[in-house]
Amino acid sequence: MNLLVTGAAGFIGSTYVRGLLAADTPDAPHITVLDKLTYAGTLTNLPASHPRLTFVQGDICDAELVDRLMAEADQVVHFAAESHVDRSIDGAGAFVRTNVVGTQTLLDAALRHGVGPFVHVSTDEVYGSIETGSWPESHPLQPNSPYSASKASSDLLALAFHRTHGLDVRVTRCSNNYGPHQFPEKVIPLFVSNLLDGKNVPLYGDGSNVRDWLHVEDHCQGIDLVRTGGRAGEVYNIGGGTELSNKELTGLLLEACGADWDRVDRVADRKGHDQRYSVDWSKIHDELGYTPKHDFTSGLADTVAWYRDNRDWWEPLKERAALESRKEQEKH
Ligand code: NAD
Ligand code: DAU
Repeated sequence: MNLLVTGAAGFIGSTYVRGLLAADTPDAPHITVLDKLTYAGTLTNLPASHPRLTFVQGDICDAELVDRLMAEADQVVHFAAESHVDRSIDGAGAFVRTNVVGTQTLLDAALRHGVGPFVHVSTDEVYGSIETGSWPESHPLQPNSPYSASKASSDLLALAFHRTHGLDVRVTRCSNNYGPHQFPEKVIPLFVSNLLDGKNVPLYGDGSNVRDWLHVEDHCQGIDLVRTGGRAGEVYNIGGGTELSNKELTGLLLEACGADWDRVDRVADRKGHDQRYSVDWSKIHDELGYTPKHDFTSGLADTVAWYRDNRDWWEPLKERAALESRKEQEKH
């Protein structure tokens, strides 16, 4: 079986692929990774010489390349995306191109070659923001940022390919992931790497915004349950079960890094900042037996320890991102 995985040089996709490659059972798939290696992707996330892995550097918007890879694929798990909300506020173009056009390019090719299941990795942000309670999968989509609007578009396109053409598409919508190998622009690795470097951390607004934290390995477990046992045309929410305000999270990160509140800069709020995300994940629990295995306290401690022990991984990424941002500023 040949599994095509897009975006697996990034945080979640690479965790998923490393997990599948570690399980050396007779039915273990051969994995072809298609990744453009944008600023967010790095080959250091993948065991490049593994005999069951083929890495192809390329763009999911490249119809010719996608067609060639899809002709050899049996199934798809689609992670590739522009994933950072703040970047989508600075400029939405790359988000529409990769997240919408790239997904459509993959769906067209999957249809041409009869490939399925096609697992589309979406996000809880497509639902918008919720003050109390949790969203079931049937909740209407009300995305607020250019990022989440582009993800909602690709999510709906994927479902439309099932309704219209009968393609075996399965969509997952998960909450905020954390764990090793997360690019140091997202709040946990940004705050941890800043604190380890003796720098301050920027807390947006009043810090009251709430996120539900999901360990990346639990997310990957959920995705694989959907790939192997889910139903065509269905959406599955995947949650972590640990809701925290950003202020509470910051307190835990300060404590883990032995720092005080004087290291926190209260900065202007994110534009259009969603107040709270919360998914009801009883469907994947009841139907596929999904339960998160990581408890947040030890998961966070292990994550902080990983960043402390793996400076070689994140320092070059942070330096490159800072250089690119300086170049961008000079242009304007
Ligand atoms: P990431 O930014 O760490 O990785 C994205 C990967 O996609 C990178 O390796 C990048 O090189 C690749 N990529 C980007 N544009 C591409 C293109 N045009 N062609 C080919 N490859 C391209 O992202 P992540 O955090 O691992 O997220 C993976 C998926 O999960 C995304 O679809 C994201 O929307 C979704 N998601 C993420 C979270 C989270 O908390 N990180 C939560 C919910 C959903
Ligand atoms: O909910 C799933 C989503 O989670 C995914 O779809 C996205 O790809 C992923 O990036 C994440 O989006 P968020 O915007 O929730 O994650 P981020 O880490 O950027 O921010 C988490 C919270 O922390 C958010 O309320 C904003 C706040 N924050 C973030 C940064 C980067 C700060 O206060 N300061 C910061 O510097």
